Amino acid sequence: MADADGALVLQVVGLRKHFGGVQAVNGVDLAVSEGELRAIIGPNGAGKTTLFNLISGDLPHDSGQIYFRGEQISGLMPPELCRRGLARTFQITSIFRRLTTLENVQTALLTHHRRHHDLFRPARRLYRDEAMVLLDRVGLADQAPKPSGILAHGDQRRLELALALASEPQLLMLDEPTAGMAPRERHEIMALAAGIATDARLTIVFTEHDMDVVFAVARRITVLHQGAVLAEGTPVEVRAHPEVQRVYLGHRAKPAR
Ligand SMILES: Nc1ncnc2c1ncn2[C@@H]1O[C@H](COP(=O)(O)OP(=O)(O)O)[C@@H](O)[C@H]1O
Ligand SMILES: [Mg+2]
Repeated sequence: MADADGALVLQVVGLRKHFGGVQAVNGVDLAVSEGELRAIIGPNGAGKTTLFNLISGDLPHDSGQIYFRGEQISGLMPPELCRRGLARTFQITSIFRRLTTLENVQTALLTHHRRHHDLFRPARRLYRDEAMVLLDRVGLADQAPKPSGILAHGDQRRLELALALASEPQLLMLDEPTAGMAPRERHEIMALAAGIATDARLTIVFTEHDMDVVFAVARRITVLHQGAVLAEGTPVEVRAHPEVQRVYLGHRAKPAR
């Protein structure tokens, strides 16, 4: 169910992208309202990551339009989109492994506030308190002094979430934020993201292949299949959708409890 007044944060119209002969994103329409926690699901190769890359400006699209808070953003680069409030994380972890957990977040805050060249204050102290607030929020405060490269895998994903939050986004796109995690930790990190979305009035669009996690946290689900939207609706609607059961949930479909 769309929340609040239903103002659209993200709107995608007729989006297409091909790689050689592969139509990775094949005419996708998508509308995400403010405050939503939207899951994009679909089998491997459905086009989820490509769709994220097009929206975040990491890849140019072939045709179609993308609107962020009512403004056309097609062709804008990721740093500009980030300044406007659109942040994303990657399926593959992208932290600075040799910096401490705290320094990673401080660096992200420095970048966001564009003070790379402040020579008069030791970088070590810059945004320290703000960084600690973010680390606390994702449950990593006690890991602050550790080199981020030695953090447990799940903690590195939490750190990525903190890095994305450092840019104070209005829309956060998370591509498989729980990849490589144990099931319990998956639920934890998504519950954390859901809590942050509510507190910070964030809109979150995420991909996730663990259906239990998707059905537990998403309020709306979009199903991609071969680059196109196959179905969209509430978890109950999507679960009952015959095409979704056929091409995607198939053997995983569970009887209603
Ligand atoms: N950089 C690329 N070059 C060529 N083909 C790609 C590239 N990225 C993705 N594809 C292809 O596009 C399709 C969609 O991939 P992807 O968006 O990664 O799907 P998903 O994230 O849903 O698993 C797949 O067939 C994939 O092989
Ligand atoms: Mg992917």
